[in-house]
Amino acid sequence: MANTILVGAQWGDEGKGKIIDVLTEQADVVVRTQGGNNAGHTVWVGKTKYVLHLIPSGILWKGKTNVVGNGVVVDPVALVGELDGLEKLNVKVEGKFFISETAHLVLPYHRELDAQREVLKGKNKIGTTKRGIGPAYGDKVARVGLRMIDLVNPERFAAKLKDRIKENNAVLKALGAKPLSYKKVHDAYRAAGDRLKPYVTNTVVLLHEAMRQNKHILFEGAQGTFLDIDHGTYPYVTSSNTTAGGACTGSGVPPHRMDRVVGVMKAYTTRVGEGPFPSESPEISDLLHGMGREFGSTTGRARRCGWFDSVVTRHATMVNGIDEIAITNTDGLDTVENIKVVIAYRLDGKTLNHLPNDLEELARVEPVFAEFEGWCTPTDQITEWKKLPAKCRAYLRAIAELSGAKLKIASVGPGREQTMFL
Ligand code: GDP
Ligand code: IMO
Ligand code: MG
Repeated sequence: MANTILVGAQWGDEGKGKIIDVLTEQADVVVRTQGGNNAGHTVWVGKTKYVLHLIPSGILWKGKTNVVGNGVVVDPVALVGELDGLEKLNVKVEGKFFISETAHLVLPYHRELDAQREVLKGKNKIGTTKRGIGPAYGDKVARVGLRMIDLVNPERFAAKLKDRIKENNAVLKALGAKPLSYKKVHDAYRAAGDRLKPYVTNTVVLLHEAMRQNKHILFEGAQGTFLDIDHGTYPYVTSSNTTAGGACTGSGVPPHRMDRVVGVMKAYTTRVGEGPFPSESPEISDLLHGMGREFGSTTGRARRCGWFDSVVTRHATMVNGIDEIAITNTDGLDTVENIKVVIAYRLDGKTLNHLPNDLEELARVEPVFAEFEGWCTPTDQITEWKKLPAKCRAYLRAIAELSGAKLKIASVGPGREQTMFL
């Protein structure tokens, strides 16, 4: 299958976990390269549901190597919880799971600061997952972060943590929040460090060794293109590069070793958290929430829903270099008679074919819609492309064409078997 980068082409939750799981069959190694446990990737295997936050979605296959790369921010206590959860479900990780020595740590002061900053922002809050992601990446860039390699070295960890707690407690106190107990944090993190130590390694060397053996690597994007720190709807974004370039910096695999980019998109659009969303529609939100769908896998929040926006996905194709498209949740539109798709925006009498970078403008754009006749037939039992209703195929082909890449996968349900390759 060659080395493949998989990215979300919208605002996250596109169904990346499901598509990664399906593509893992043809891969040898699956790597997370950015984000942290703000991600929630859902995979169904038969009747069992798994929600993965830090561990790559390839973990459910036997004989595949799974890597948390250097670009990920790791909350070690949360990771131990996730490993325990998988073990309870009889998923073995021994010998097939590795964490980069240089991945940065998320510490309790990051979570506390994340929460405090949201309170201070009031109505301008980002709507973060409160997992401490922004402050952890902030410390990484400010060169005051702690890394996995520190966590597994007890003396060094103790000394560095002491310094960081001192500074952060001063900040927390100034914000009126409770200071943290060094001892409590130290003990909990050291226990997690001992538990994780067997998995901590030089993952850059591991990945290059795999490539030397002609193994196929699948890079599992977290979040989505419009949550990218550079290319997203800043400041309503996450704090990492969620776009294809992040797969290189977050793993140590150079750009010329990447063979293709797969963009995952829903047949409609969702967003969780604050920020502009031009195609948002109460009609489609009510429909999907009424079906019990579109509640967040990490925080349980109801996702905001809207029509498919091809201005957004075209931009995603451009910045990620998407070659192939996987469209998920096609079945979510099974009962809609008239399906709308955004093909451009209007602003102050002008037609825009790209998203304006000025968020105030993006918040004011009016979508220009194309309409498609719905297929009004259940699709979730269909397993062959040719058997999908003609109107459904036409819709999927049209939105892929509008997005500017080749339609490769259509998904009509959360299960592995509810996936069609074109
Ligand atoms: P991710 O963060 O991109 O991995 O996506 P999430 O797992 O957060 O959210 C996607 C949701 O859609 C999950 O509940 C999946 O099980 C579900 N899903 C994925 N593909 C399909 C599909 O084609 N149809 C339906 N009904 N659900 C799907
Ligand atoms: P997956 O990988 C959807 C959103 C949050 C918030 C913003 C910043 O499951 O697609 P953060 O906690 O990262 O500082 O929050 O980003 N967000 C996601 N939305 N899916 C995700 O991950 C997300 N991870 C973060 O809701 O708007
Ligand atoms: Mg998700």
